[in-house]
Order: sequence, then C-alpha cells, then structure tokens
Amino acid sequence: MRKNIVLVGFMGTGKSTVGKLLAEQLNRTFYDMDDVIVEKEGKSVAEIFSTKGERYFREVERKWTINYCTKKENAVVALGGGAFVQAPIREACLAHTEVVLLSLSWETWVERMEELKEGRPLLQEKNVKEIRNLFEERATMYAEAHHRIVTDGFTPEEVTEQIIALLQ
Ligand code: S3P
Repeated sequence: MRKNIVLVGFMGTGKSTVGKLLAEQLNRTFYDMDDVIVEKEGKSVAEIFSTKGERYFREVERKWTINYCTKKENAVVALGGGAFVQAPIREACLAHTEVVLLSLSWETWVERMEELKEGRPLLQEKNVKEIRNLFEERATMYAEAHHRIVTDGFTPEEVTEQIIALLQ
C-alpha cells in the first residue's frame, strides 16, 4: 500500500481544493481534517474555539489528525493550518506519510486575507502584524515537510499536476 499523502501549509493556501483534486486524480479518498473535527464535535471550528477554547481544539485536532493520517488507507489528507505545528502530529506524519507543503508568499497571501477571515477565528482575533508573525514562525515547522510546492501564480489544477509529478 502506498503511503497516504498529507497536505500542510498556512490557512488559505489551497490545501482543501488541491486535496480534493489530487484524491480524484489518484483514485484515493479525501479527508479534510477541519471537516472531520466539525463532524466529530458537532460544532463549527469557530464554535469550538469560542465555547471550548483553542487548547481544546488542538487536543481534538491532534487526536484525529494522527488517527486519520496513520490509520486510513489510500488517502489524501488536508491538515488544518496549525496542525503541523504540533510536534506529535509532525512526527507521526513525517514517519508514516508523504508530507507536501503548499507554500505561498506573504505578499500573495495578504491580498486574499479579507476573504479568508470567515470561519477562521485566528484570522479574526489577530491584526496583520500578528498574523505575519504567525506566518513566519510556522514557516520553520512547515519547512520540515518532505516536499514543497510554491503555489503563487498557479491554479489548483496546476498545483495538483505538480504534486503528481513530484510523487511519481
Ligand atoms: C487554523 C487553521 C484552520 C483551522 C483553524 C485553525 C490554524 O484550518 O484548523 O481555524 O491554526 O492555522 P485551514 O488551514 O484549513 O484554514
């Protein structure tokens, strides 16, 4: 059985869109971990953050992300943007899956910031400077991914083709 493919990267870099396309092309099952958590908890991500707090969200995220990435077969899994920051998730994914980072420059990302705010509590509660700090802090952890695709200027279809070529 070939390893699962795990997509990581900052919020709004196209993990879910590309993950779906990739799974279709490769005949795999697609899992979006934010959707899995919403289903398991019966609440939106924003509701989990506001009623139970970010710490609780991270615990649930850790449990289900490690479970799905290591136990599902023939899968493409899109992680939430903060998941790969958690050391146990990073270690499990690096050991058992092919981790692909979708990387976008800050300049391109910031142009889309307003449209990304909906449903993402971290983007709503932080100012641009704080978000930029988060973007930079996380870059060092994202850099541990096995593969990196720069998505600036590419369509989701083109990014998907690049990942397929990379993993062949
Ligand atoms: C988060 C990213 C979100 C979601 C939650 C926290 C983060 O996922 O898990 O809002 O810490 O970067 P997306 O990357 O799918 O937006």
